[in-house]
Amino acid sequence: MRVPGRDQPPPAGHSATEGTGPRTAGRAHELARRSSDTIGDIESSRRTILGVSGSLRQGSFNALLLRAAESLAPAGVAFDHYDELGRLPHFSQDIEGDLTPAVVYEFRDRIRRADCVLISTPEYNGSLPGTLKNALDWASRPAGESAFKDKPVAAIGASPGRHGAARAQTDVRAVLSAMGAETLETELPVPRVREKFDDAGALQDEEIGRRLTELVGALIALAGEPAPPPPESAEYSVACQRLAATAD
Ligand SMILES: Cc1cc2nc3c(=O)[nH]c(=O)nc-3n(C[C@H](O)[C@H](O)[C@H](O)COP(=O)(O)O)c2cc1C
Repeated sequence: MRVPGRDQPPPAGHSATEGTGPRTAGRAHELARRSSDTIGDIESSRRTILGVSGSLRQGSFNALLLRAAESLAPAGVAFDHYDELGRLPHFSQDIEGDLTPAVVYEFRDRIRRADCVLISTPEYNGSLPGTLKNALDWASRPAGESAFKDKPVAAIGASPGRHGAARAQTDVRAVLSAMGAETLETELPVPRVREKFDDAGALQDEEIGRRLTELVGALIALAGEPAPPPPESAEYSVACQRLAATAD
């Protein structure tokens, strides 16, 4: 019998140090622990932003940009950094429904529970990275139940070149619009990104800092009044229980 999180091919970008073998009880418990930690953080804050970096690279500038956004965010705003993109399997309609891995439910839940989402995307060959598009495709399913439906989302991005991943940001917003998200029109292309951060990963550019602060404020405003977080989805709980039961 196939169970969520088992019998899947190793996802792209899944590093050896993270383990590529069969999922274990430790993995199941870790998923459940992380989910409850996240829920605790969300409930103690007035506002949460789910930060998603479209890069799997160690030392990613786009991940640094999200950390900078967090440090500039107003009081009462908490960031939940989603850094599991590399664990999501390649999307296939053949593994939807009962065969959908728990990591996919967790991703959808993190989106649903956040007040808004901030995506920092690299640009690969003039558009968003395939890994990020894959994650967004998972989040859009099942048809008509997109986790991004009516979700306020902003796209920012950085590149070492002159255009600051501008085309990728536009494409991210187009994809999100197609799945029902409410996208912030303002983008933030960060060109020549190597000059913008110091060796410790701190943002050094005042103008970018000012625009990032404004963009986060606009994203929060787009989210409107805080709503109580939805309960964890039953599908995700069942997937975690199955995973723990088969791994014990
Ligand atoms: C496959 C590939 C394609 C790329 N294509 C572009 C591109 O079209 N435009 C651009 O500005 N940078 C491009 N780059 C360079 C990335 O912007 C650069 O590697 C950036 O640092 C990636 O973001 P990260 O630091 O968050 O990983 C490309 C890099 C790779 C690996």
